[in-house]
Amino acid sequence: MAQLQIGVVGGGVAGLSAAFRLAKHNHQVTVFDPDPANGASHAAAGMLAPASEANFSEIPLLRLMQHSNELWTDFAAEIEAVSGMPVGLRREGTIVIGFEPNDARDLERLSEFQRELGIEVIRLTRHQLKELEPETGGPFPYAAMIDSDVQLDNRKLMDSLLAALDSLGTRFVRQSVSAVNERGDGGYEIVLDDGAKVQPDAVLVAPGSYVGTISGLPKAVTRSIRPVKGQIIRVQASPELLRHVIRAKVYGKTLYMVPRSDGEIVIGATQEEVGFDTTAKVRPIAEMLSQAALLLPGIGEADFIEHMVRFRPGSFDNSPIVGRYEDSNLFLCLGHFRHGILLSAALSKYVAMAIETGKQPLEIEQFSATRLEAS
Ligand code: GLY
Repeated sequence: MAQLQIGVVGGGVAGLSAAFRLAKHNHQVTVFDPDPANGASHAAAGMLAPASEANFSEIPLLRLMQHSNELWTDFAAEIEAVSGMPVGLRREGTIVIGFEPNDARDLERLSEFQRELGIEVIRLTRHQLKELEPETGGPFPYAAMIDSDVQLDNRKLMDSLLAALDSLGTRFVRQSVSAVNERGDGGYEIVLDDGAKVQPDAVLVAPGSYVGTISGLPKAVTRSIRPVKGQIIRVQASPELLRHVIRAKVYGKTLYMVPRSDGEIVIGATQEEVGFDTTAKVRPIAEMLSQAALLLPGIGEADFIEHMVRFRPGSFDNSPIVGRYEDSNLFLCLGHFRHGILLSAALSKYVAMAIETGKQPLEIEQFSATRLEAS
């Protein structure tokens, strides 16, 4: 295959995972980002949770998420083999808890839908829950185990990707991209903040929620993505406090707690449609912490480490937009929304194929940029 020069706009998980696959295929890749690996990918919890993130209306997306979850085993091993740095993939499964009877009823309905789609949801007795997670409170009216929903450590992943790209010779330009402009010949070029122009064979646009800040791109592209604010908390506990990912409904609100091997617990996350508002309000933070304490009382003794605000890239239909833009040299990898880490194993694979072949792979046919025309 001919070696291509590829400019990747955006150094989050979407851009870096695609850059990794392309660099491994010996293409000359340059990543443009003023602060790589410090956006939504840094805040994320790292859940690979297609089943528990399943929504009643999103079956094609759910299938893509399940496929990507399967790809992660090999993809994680590939990244680790190049970087020598683990990404913290853990396969203990996810425990789902309904805190009060209405929460239990909602989760029972969801589990029926999940089972119809072939997802195994195993109900847990109070005793079984206590055996798996002795420090949980309760009794809760609903508890179940989903073995297929797992996690990796998103921060380790991003460090590992950066190191892998470094050893593959990928260039990093730590500057903002002010424009991606159409040239006279119909191709697109990258314009940096300092006015410098770069004309690669292919431009991959993967800047997460910030695509709207880049001028020159077709309007249909820039208006397709909105920022969806998430506030997320990290606390330091002893590693014995929690071993499995917990996803819960507490008085109708969704909460997750994701334990890392060193005892850190990631607690998240709010979902707010307030544009690029970086303020931290007390109420959502207090709610998340009090809900976490209802599920896992010992968390009250943990050390508070961090509160972070970042923005998920949500598209007009909350599904990704991936592939070639019209017949140009512009490729998109946008709209990962709540599933950036999970979807990146699959979307990086198929967007790399799209760049190499110029064709939309069948696996992402439904998520192509042609959807932008109808939006
Ligand atoms: N995937 C979890 C979140 O977006 O909060």
